[in-house]
Amino acid sequence: MEMINGFSKLTTEEKISTISKLFDNPKDVADYFRSFHHQNPRIQELLEEFSENTLSNFPMPFSVAPNFLINGKNYIVPMVIEESSVVAAASNSAKYWYRHGGFKTEIVDTEKIGQVHFLWKDNTDLLRYKFPELKNALIEDTEAITENMRKRGGGILDIELKDLSDKEPGLMQLYCTFDTKDSMGANFINSCLEQFASTFKEWYHHEPEFTGEGLEIIMCILSNLTPDSRVKCWVETEVDKLDNIVNGVSGADFARSFELGVRVAEIDPHRAVTHNKGIFNGVDAVVLASGNDFRAVEACGHAYASRSGQYRPLTHVELNEGHFKFTLDLPISIGVVGGLTNLHPLVKLALKMLGNPDATELMSIAAAAGLANNFSAVKSLVTTGIQKGHMKMHLFNIMKQLEVPREFKGPIVEYFKTHKVSVSEVRKVMEALQFTGKLNNSVKI
Ligand code: MEV
Repeated sequence: MEMINGFSKLTTEEKISTISKLFDNPKDVADYFRSFHHQNPRIQELLEEFSENTLSNFPMPFSVAPNFLINGKNYIVPMVIEESSVVAAASNSAKYWYRHGGFKTEIVDTEKIGQVHFLWKDNTDLLRYKFPELKNALIEDTEAITENMRKRGGGILDIELKDLSDKEPGLMQLYCTFDTKDSMGANFINSCLEQFASTFKEWYHHEPEFTGEGLEIIMCILSNLTPDSRVKCWVETEVDKLDNIVNGVSGADFARSFELGVRVAEIDPHRAVTHNKGIFNGVDAVVLASGNDFRAVEACGHAYASRSGQYRPLTHVELNEGHFKFTLDLPISIGVVGGLTNLHPLVKLALKMLGNPDATELMSIAAAAGLANNFSAVKSLVTTGIQKGHMKMHLFNIMKQLEVPREFKGPIVEYFKTHKVSVSEVRKVMEALQFTGKLNNSVKI
């Protein structure tokens, strides 16, 4: 295939046509892309503008998990996720904890971080001495950028000079902290940082004590590692209240197995990664539904999980004198204004469904979804096993794929309560049903 030039300048129709021609059946492919376009051209245009070189939309389920009692308030939590069982797991957990006091949260802080990385080959002691003067200039020159944020009670919190020259000759940074209130703040922070870099260069070249040749700006960028934008979320109950949380299992046995399940993740990074993946099943689904950046949230969470030098679980169990407490400690930087939050029509609806929360409330909701999913996953893993629930969803997906007639679904679900689920087995059962009209033990499959 030859290199494609000027693709981004084409109209959507031209892009669809160019790409469809690469298939054997261009007309069908083009129609297929178009069939996912939104019926309202204004919304379609909006969706296309979220990215570049857009051909079509990629639908994902928009689901809800009801009965999330968080800090005494009942939420219906919107979740956007493609993996079956995640919303069911969140909902089951939410319903259980609704009756046991709900989720509690504490916002540790909401501080965001940005850095100007630079090489310094001039007098470091003099730079340190003069830094308060530079800092004033940096703050003054960003006043136009920070004006609105300051009106909302946020802005630049501090700027520090960090010396990393023991790791790389001359490497230093302006380490900057921000309060971005209800926004995630990426644009705000990056704009401030780029202004800091210009002001720094100008200030440096006007200071006669320096050589004027010892400053090289490497880059200006926010850090997605925000350990001080963090929420703690927990559920707790007396152990005996956990009796029969899984049929026939005592609360004490369950709590002990559950604690052990989390302990394995504390010891073994292989398990910890899967354990945390289960947390992000819930967190990401809320982050996506609320129009936030799930890549940033994941990167931050995984880095935080490694802060001790070993990758560890983000949740923790305390089991003391008959009391069970399960806590998620989650660094998360998300917002409810700016970016996609004000633009995506379904994001607006999702936030409305949550009662238009502020950023800290949304942090709590995302954390509760993460804790709920993790609770469900570990509960299943240490008792019945995960496949029981998964296989049921798998069966539903297979039935959809095979276009099983509605009247056969009930008997098929019944049959697979005691048989192993696979595409070929479901096909055989369906064929048997089509042949006999009913399914009983005498039907050979
Ligand atoms: C699957 O998406 C998530 C789990 O693997 C999480 C876990 O193992 O804790 C079930």
